[in-house]
Amino acid sequence: MTSPINASDRQAQKTFFIKTYGCQMNVYDSERMGEALVADGYTETAVLEDADLIVLNTCHIRERAVDKVYSELGRIRDIKEQRLAAGKSTSVTIAGCVAQAEGAEIARRVGVVDVVVGPQSYHRLPALVRQARTDGQIIATEFLDNEKFDALPVRKRARNTAAYLTVQEGCDKFCTFCVVPYTRGAEFSRPMSQLLDEALKLVAGGVREMTLLGQNVNAYHGVDAAGHEVTLVGLIRALAAIPELERLRYTTSHPRDMRDDLIELHATEPKLMPYLHLPFQAGSDRILAAMNRKHTAADYLELVRRIRAKNPALALSTDIIVGFPGETEAEFEATLEMVRTVQFAQAYSFKYSARPGTPAATMDGQLSEAVKTERLHRLQALLAEASTRFNAGCVGKIFPVLFEKAGRRPGQLIGRSPYLQSVYADVDVAALGRIMQVQISAAGPNSLAGVVCA
Ligand code: 5AD
Ligand code: SF4
Repeated sequence: MTSPINASDRQAQKTFFIKTYGCQMNVYDSERMGEALVADGYTETAVLEDADLIVLNTCHIRERAVDKVYSELGRIRDIKEQRLAAGKSTSVTIAGCVAQAEGAEIARRVGVVDVVVGPQSYHRLPALVRQARTDGQIIATEFLDNEKFDALPVRKRARNTAAYLTVQEGCDKFCTFCVVPYTRGAEFSRPMSQLLDEALKLVAGGVREMTLLGQNVNAYHGVDAAGHEVTLVGLIRALAAIPELERLRYTTSHPRDMRDDLIELHATEPKLMPYLHLPFQAGSDRILAAMNRKHTAADYLELVRRIRAKNPALALSTDIIVGFPGETEAEFEATLEMVRTVQFAQAYSFKYSARPGTPAATMDGQLSEAVKTERLHRLQALLAEASTRFNAGCVGKIFPVLFEKAGRRPGQLIGRSPYLQSVYADVDVAALGRIMQVQISAAGPNSLAGVVCA
């Protein structure tokens, strides 16, 4: 029996392209949106110009995010016109935190946008795109009580050896500089059974390393199948019991939620990698209070001491903001002092940028761009010294390396060390997806080279 061509058959020919900005959670979200589109009959294209549906998954955490979206939309408008001249229509979606915060305004100003979809509505993306074809521009930025994870299609295959798994979303901490509590909403933990199902699917698809994601991941408090509360420790233990899953990481943690049992787990759970991202943001207690960080510099140093006492091999990375409103030279130097004391393996540092709607944006004492730039340069020079020293200290050591992809030269693969460093080694492609012992022979600022042990 033949059936007439219906709407879903027509969609079978449609292609999509997702451009991702910002954090790892956006990378994860883009994968899930892509899967929802595939389930709706789309196929992915690697060429933006060929796409029937273009999704910009945006980031709002720091400045120029909105400018970037506008300039990309300008380019897309030209592409849309060229495609139209060739008889092809193009649908454009803005997703992510810019969509949540300012999407309606952008859509109003730029006619090229068909759908604005906030991070809590991704499961509705295929339907919204369809609806926009008949109804015109659609804005979907309501917070939907977290129906998203129940409604997104079940994961089928993994793309890589290492995968992200969002376990917690949103944040209740309200640091005064940060948009996340407004764009991602209130803190929400996914139930453990849902996470175990997703993890098993990823592992069946070849994933060997998983990074658990959350804006405030160590505040994770889900429920198990019996309805009992589970913390991040319980979740990590349950995931570590999956035999093929060899490595676990989690990010981003708030110092206030680094509980004793989680610190202890870094000493007792071999699958938990000895690398922790723990933002401290600033070294001055006055600035930390103005940031509403809920910890002092001494609290942070004490926490680091306790973590290192449990696992001396653990390395730290961090986030730092320079030029918060009112920051004096002496207060900035307290940040430098913190960096000298802790010796981070890796750090992400930013100039403070006023985010509309956050308390710090209207505080007195906003600093000039010149002051912020100068402080950032001084800080980054110090951070580079520390990370170079850390990498140099790895030479001669033997690391378990999980090989993930081909290197630049034939015969070479690139893998990850326990400390997330890229490691280059000459090894047979059969090593892809496997962990091998590698003796580190050289260190650069951003990567290591090594020799696979016999
Ligand atoms: N300005 C500069 N940096 C910021 N971050 C978050 N909001 C801002 C802002 N308004 C940084 C913080 C956070 C990281 C993800 O981005 O350091 O930890
Ligand atoms: Fe933003 Fe992190 Fe502070 Fe939450 S804890 S408000 S996500 S900086």
